[in-house]
Amino acid sequence: MPAIEALRVGVLCGGASPERPGSLASGEAAAKALAEAGLMTELIDMADTALSALRDRIDVALLGLHGLGGEDGKVQGALDTLGIPYTGSGVLASALGMHKPTFKTLAVQQRMDTPRWTMRQPEVSIESTINTVRLTLGFPVFVKPSSGGGSLAAGIARDDAELRALLTRADGDPYTEFMIEEYVPGLPCTVGLVEVEGRLRTLPVHDVETDREFYDYTAKHDPAQRREHCPSILPAPTTENMQYLARRVFQMIGAHGVLRVDFLATKGGRVTMLEANTLPGLSQRGNLATMARAGGIPYPELIKHLIRTAYTKPGYLP
Ligand SMILES: Nc1ncnc2c1ncn2[C@@H]1O[C@H](COP(=O)(O)OP(=O)(O)OP(=O)(O)O)[C@@H](O)[C@H]1O
Ligand SMILES: [Mg+2]
Repeated sequence: MPAIEALRVGVLCGGASPERPGSLASGEAAAKALAEAGLMTELIDMADTALSALRDRIDVALLGLHGLGGEDGKVQGALDTLGIPYTGSGVLASALGMHKPTFKTLAVQQRMDTPRWTMRQPEVSIESTINTVRLTLGFPVFVKPSSGGGSLAAGIARDDAELRALLTRADGDPYTEFMIEEYVPGLPCTVGLVEVEGRLRTLPVHDVETDREFYDYTAKHDPAQRREHCPSILPAPTTENMQYLARRVFQMIGAHGVLRVDFLATKGGRVTMLEANTLPGLSQRGNLATMARAGGIPYPELIKHLIRTAYTKPGYLP
């Protein structure tokens, strides 16, 4: 592996994803930390840069991208083709992490707990979907895009009318396919995993209490709307179970470098898995950075570890 001090690091962020604001925050924070550490760093907004232009401009890409087009394997495939090493997972793990129903199907196959769900396919009418929900899941339910993030276009429906409103409101978003999940009242928790010097480190569990209906977009962006704990306030057997499950998920999807796995923990002791984020947010006060700090890894070190792992990916991993 080349010394990272000799590398031209391109911090890729922004782009056209609905998660663009979070991505800009990730990119700016990471680029600042790298520049302060004396590394050659360029912040690159993918909204006004062609990937092919990066070939002779950077040696390695630090991905601060989130959501569609950045976290789903497309950029990863393009960078593979251009021969530019990049941080995080390859094409397959990225795609599996992005598409929640596929991810959950794998999780069920591995006998992991994830909320029961049904799909709202674009070709099926909303009324027919509501009928299916009434007959299979029952209310309340939680609606979210299959390939979404940041709690965008998500919400709780307690009856037919609320479900109809949520599904109708969603029409016209970039999201065409929706999942309707069993509603699980629980504490949102997350577990970070990060590769440090060739070894996968499992970080302390992070949880969030909020007085809002759920851990929604507002709670994620306004610190006054949430109370975070890291390490989590949950008992050790519960957090250890989450950490164990997160490591299994890392292997299950073939992730690389970094991963954040999200759960809900109920008062009754149920731990249910929501999703896996192959490119977790990188802002300095974000969940991953908070977990890393609690695990003894300062923010600038976290970012440098991410870059190093761009060179530890197995030779061929789709
Ligand atoms: N089945 C469910 N029952 C109850 N609440 C849920 C359910 N699914 C999601 N939520 C709520 O929505 C939040 C976000 O869910 P999830 O992690 O699946 O979405 P996301 O938009 O992909 O998140 P991220 O910001 O991590 O990308 C959860 O923390 C929880 O508060
Ligand atoms: Mg999540």
